[in-house]
Amino acid sequence: GEVLYYDFVVKETPIQMLCGTNQTVLTVNGLFPGPEIHAHKGDTIYVNVTNTGPYGVTIHWHGVRQIRYPWSDGPEYITQCPIPTNSSFLQKIILTEEEGTLWWHAHSDWTRATIHGPIIILPVNGTNYPYKFDEQHTIVISEWYARDTKDIIDEALATGGDPDLSVAYTINGQPGDSYSCSNDSTYNLTAVQGKTYLLRIIHSGLNEEMFFGIADHNITVVGMDGAYLKPLNTKYLMITPGQTMDVLVTANQTPGRYYMVFSPFVDTNAPSNDNVTRGIFQYTGTYNQSETPVLPELPGLTNKSDAGNFTIQLRSLNSAEHPSTVPTNITRNITITVSVNQQPCPANQTCNGPDGSMHSASLNNISFSAPSISILQAYYNNLQGVYNKTFPDTPPFVFDYTGNVSALGEAANVTTEVLMINHNEEVEIRFQGTNLGAAENHPMHLHGYSFYVVGMGDGNFSDSYVSQYNTVDPPFVNTVGLPKNGWTAIRFKADNPGVWFMHCHLERHASWGMDTVIVVKDGPNDDQKVLPPPDDVPPCS
Ligand code: C2O
Ligand code: CU
Repeated sequence: GEVLYYDFVVKETPIQMLCGTNQTVLTVNGLFPGPEIHAHKGDTIYVNVTNTGPYGVTIHWHGVRQIRYPWSDGPEYITQCPIPTNSSFLQKIILTEEEGTLWWHAHSDWTRATIHGPIIILPVNGTNYPYKFDEQHTIVISEWYARDTKDIIDEALATGGDPDLSVAYTINGQPGDSYSCSNDSTYNLTAVQGKTYLLRIIHSGLNEEMFFGIADHNITVVGMDGAYLKPLNTKYLMITPGQTMDVLVTANQTPGRYYMVFSPFVDTNAPSNDNVTRGIFQYTGTYNQSETPVLPELPGLTNKSDAGNFTIQLRSLNSAEHPSTVPTNITRNITITVSVNQQPCPANQTCNGPDGSMHSASLNNISFSAPSISILQAYYNNLQGVYNKTFPDTPPFVFDYTGNVSALGEAANVTTEVLMINHNEEVEIRFQGTNLGAAENHPMHLHGYSFYVVGMGDGNFSDSYVSQYNTVDPPFVNTVGLPKNGWTAIRFKADNPGVWFMHCHLERHASWGMDTVIVVKDGPNDDQKVLPPPDDVPPCS
């Protein structure tokens, strides 16, 4: 592959949205969404990240496996400390098998709301896409907040209450004409009748899953999370924060204007922002331009079954050029419950969580507490007292999602536990959604790997489901939506040594502690060990 260079300057940028006054947000290079990285499979990219903002930030390359090189992965206090104001960190993005659409985003506080952008990975020169199209467009769906997102989460964590909701969704930075005062800020895709468009959809929103569709047009999903899928023809898709989907749409309708719409899927009783954002799929040609575009029919706000019905149809391409290699000899089997909890309010404090408690969230009833030195640094240098190696392989209590679970440890243990995994283990993780707190769908994301989603269903996991797993062509992804009160089983081979964050990609849940760290140990050979650190890793004080 080639070696490419990019310069990213994190800076305060005034942006005007929804007829408001200029709002100062952090961006990369003054752009919202941020600059697009273009590469080919197998390239190496150096990004010189300079932070000129008022506080420390980090940048993560979401879905890039970074083989043996966690040093550039980016989650704060996991693989590095934040890049301080007025300093730089030269990050190295090592592309290997990834091909398709990924993205990058800030991985500190809630700064990723405005610090994010696409990573487009084309096939190696001389090789082909496994599908045909005429033109490609990137579509980034983001959430826009009324005020500084770091303030929002800092205040919410201090009182244990619910963080503010976003005030608008945007398509490539434009809220669209469903919001008042935003008519002239609507994303338009110019379509020529007969042509086929590849849309690279990136969900960089913080807190809500989305349905997407285009009026009167079918879409064909052909890729996800930087890997190809068997073409799936559908009227709508459901995409979670963290996921990317490549879809084809052919302009095969009467020339006109058709709305393309993202609308939220919120599988919970929690208050929700039920706005939608829409762009226009606009044909060239002569027709009545002043007619209102047609709207697509999308599943409703709480339509869990339509969300699930879409997701379970996804299959990896599994062709000769792009084979699936699903581990079938599992040597490590882990079950992880995924819960929203309540912590008791500390004495002498007023808390704004449910019934005067504090919101929290957990994996196996452990609410992750980030250390002040990065776990990678502590691991590599053998520093003691930063984390414990005792994240359990099984939940601490018997769990029944249908039962009365209020007595089953609604408060979680707030600690820093990591899950130790031997090199080259064939790992299965069964995520079990619970009914603690407000149950909902959780997009679980793993750094350093993509994994095969071999099974998914409602209710409690049962061993009898193992024989029904798809080990032939399951989707190969980095983020999977764990269904509300349901389960998901994933498999991967632990062939990438390092310190890898695993968390829910709903930002409020991650902030409440729905995170853990997987440490994959070095293998015996020299080419199976974590590479040495670069010398400009931001220091931890
Ligand atoms: Cu997209 Cu840990 O992140
Ligand atoms: Cu979650």
